[in-house]
Amino acid sequence: MNPVRLKEGIYWVGAIDWAVRDFHGYITPRGTTYNNYLILDEEITLVDAVKEDFTEISLKNIRALVEPSKIRHIVVNHIENDHASGLDRIKSFCPDADIYITERGRKGLERFFDISGWNIKTVKTGDTLKIGKRTLLFIETPMLHWPDSMMTYVKEERLLISQDAFGQHIASSARFDDEYITCESMSELEDAVVDYYANILMPFGHLIKSKIEELKKLNLEIDMIAPDHGVIWRQNPQKVLQMYLDMANGKANLSVAIIYDTMWHSTEQMTLPIMQGIRDEGVDCKVIKLRATPMSIAIKEFWKARGALIGTPTLNNIMYPSVSEFLTHLRGLRPKNRIAGAFGSYGWGGGAVKEVYEELKRMGLEIYEPGIQVMYRPSLEDEKRLYEFGKDFARMVKEYHAKF
Ligand code: FEO
Repeated sequence: MNPVRLKEGIYWVGAIDWAVRDFHGYITPRGTTYNNYLILDEEITLVDAVKEDFTEISLKNIRALVEPSKIRHIVVNHIENDHASGLDRIKSFCPDADIYITERGRKGLERFFDISGWNIKTVKTGDTLKIGKRTLLFIETPMLHWPDSMMTYVKEERLLISQDAFGQHIASSARFDDEYITCESMSELEDAVVDYYANILMPFGHLIKSKIEELKKLNLEIDMIAPDHGVIWRQNPQKVLQMYLDMANGKANLSVAIIYDTMWHSTEQMTLPIMQGIRDEGVDCKVIKLRATPMSIAIKEFWKARGALIGTPTLNNIMYPSVSEFLTHLRGLRPKNRIAGAFGSYGWGGGAVKEVYEELKRMGLEIYEPGIQVMYRPSLEDEKRLYEFGKDFARMVKEYHAKF
């Protein structure tokens, strides 16, 4: 792909990764892109590098516009490997270029590269760099989602280069939101935003809120947001800002995700009357079997719903390993504003449902108790209990949802 013009003199020079499906354990069924941006001004500036394997593609895009040796500044918004591992190769073509980075970024960078000969300029929020007609304003965004993270705002162009924030794991020939929704759909794009937020940014909702507030206080006019993954928001940048604010404020669907695994189908059979009870209370419900679902999709489905019921068989008196794995992932993401309960089956000794509750409580979620268990196979009598359990849980979900 050739460089793509964002604004007069500002180009996307990144790469599309059509094939990546496992992004450090996060499943990416749509692939992704590594976006970086070249600003042609009196002092030519590159914002971000790309993943090492894609460096030659980015260099080719840069060369289509200018010889890399002419790059005067490189801004490193984020040092994670998918953006910075190609930095030293690019830097080798412009050895005199200054690097603009946060102090925490500098400390991290020296763990990846020998930067002893590099001219590093550390920046903090409010610092600016005049590169000719344009001025770059740096805004630190620590823990969004690494300590080093920052954004770069091109004042005269009202362009926010936002690194990971507002990105999506989408590989597409479309570079912009309006192009993408023409060839796919807005709902597909929204889904990719939610997926990205749920799996990467869920723990940082409070930081996202305060950072968006800070951006408002800075009175930045933003008419384009260019993230480091996926499509660039040029038609409606306010949409993704609002989506982030809504998610940070705990927005969820009035729905339930039943997330379970099963050994001999008993726990699986329990999901049906529970689901029916939930539906009969007028609440949407989705059933997700863990062994049939990539982890990141199960996490996304959890995040989309206000309520979750976790189902597990009992194996050697503890919960099923795939359920445990899911809860471990979830706990790391520090979910909030969700109500959860548990159900499960056992043969001769229980224990799994109790363990699930212990995990849910450790996460600080709103808890619906008691859970429900059946021995061996759900009987007709059990099915009635399960149906009522589903109805009762749905009523609690509606009550809890009304608080948001
Ligand atoms: Fe896309 Fe945090 O790297």
